[in-house]
Amino acid sequence: MTTQTPEQVDTLPASWYCDPARWPLERAEIFAPSWQLIGHESEMARPGAWIADTIAGYPLLVVRSETGALNGFHNVCRHRAGPIATTRTGQCDGALVCAYHGWRYALDGRLREARDFGAAPGFDPRAFALFPVRVATWRGLVFVCQSPDAAPLADWLAPLDARLGDADWTNLRVALSRTHDLACNWKTYAENYLEGYHVPLIHPGLDAEIESDRYVVTMDGRIAFHDAPRRTPDAIYDGLWAWAWPNLGVNVYRRGLMMERISPMGPHATRLDYLYLTPDGEDVPAETLAMSDQVTAEDKAIVESVQINLAAGLYERGRLSPRHEGGVRAFQGFVAAALGGAG
Ligand code: FES
Ligand SMILES: [Fe+2]
Repeated sequence: MTTQTPEQVDTLPASWYCDPARWPLERAEIFAPSWQLIGHESEMARPGAWIADTIAGYPLLVVRSETGALNGFHNVCRHRAGPIATTRTGQCDGALVCAYHGWRYALDGRLREARDFGAAPGFDPRAFALFPVRVATWRGLVFVCQSPDAAPLADWLAPLDARLGDADWTNLRVALSRTHDLACNWKTYAENYLEGYHVPLIHPGLDAEIESDRYVVTMDGRIAFHDAPRRTPDAIYDGLWAWAWPNLGVNVYRRGLMMERISPMGPHATRLDYLYLTPDGEDVPAETLAMSDQVTAEDKAIVESVQINLAAGLYERGRLSPRHEGGVRAFQGFVAAALGGAG
């Protein structure tokens, strides 16, 4: 790696966005030890209600216990790796039952019954509890983390919490969830999310609402804040845009917000999971959805083109703008640090 001054910062090598061998490293070193948004508390109001999702290839499950606590587990049966929950949300009746052969687990993960297992000398059900993961909530949002050593979620999101101040999210409910599939590496999209440099060329509709030449991205710890003056007082994007390491976008609107999880599906595939939350779950305004769809389609087109070019074998490294791409630079630093600078 060449010596870099603050003014001269190279991008990461193109191979980091293309090499399938990097994928298991990123899963283990970036996604397993980070807090991942899985849903909202209102989606699991009653005991036995669950939310399940596969994030960066890790099947995860959160269930509400009889006492109201949220318990998190790998959504992987200890018998022969069947799935416990087979839908994103659901409600069980006091026990989690594997879909494959029907092993039953208590809501605290203990194996209660290995259905019709037969005589099995030496088989101790106590040794076959579901593998636990950490669960924490923040402003009603439910997060999971597989690392016992990761900092608490509150520390993770502290700069964002400070910026939001006393904004009241207690009446927000999930109004809509949407997914968008992208043919690119997750980092290609994340970096696009972390700069406004491309807005005048890629997003003419958004550019009409904000002063793109005054678009600023500011890092506070591992949170990025986007700020751009609105051209009109009734701009749809009138609120807070932020991003939290490694893969969470936060888009606060005048009424409600949209959480955007950048979900890596493999080395060359990414899914955007959008969770719209509105006061009491009221409908998301049509113009908000239209603008969101338009911006997403525009970003999808450009990041998929960039991905093809990164994989073409011509481009190796580029240069980041100190004025516009400080967020990208920070992100690339976090990635390199997580992977031990492994090139
Ligand atoms: S894999 Fe779960 S009961 Fe067999
Ligand atoms: Fe964009």
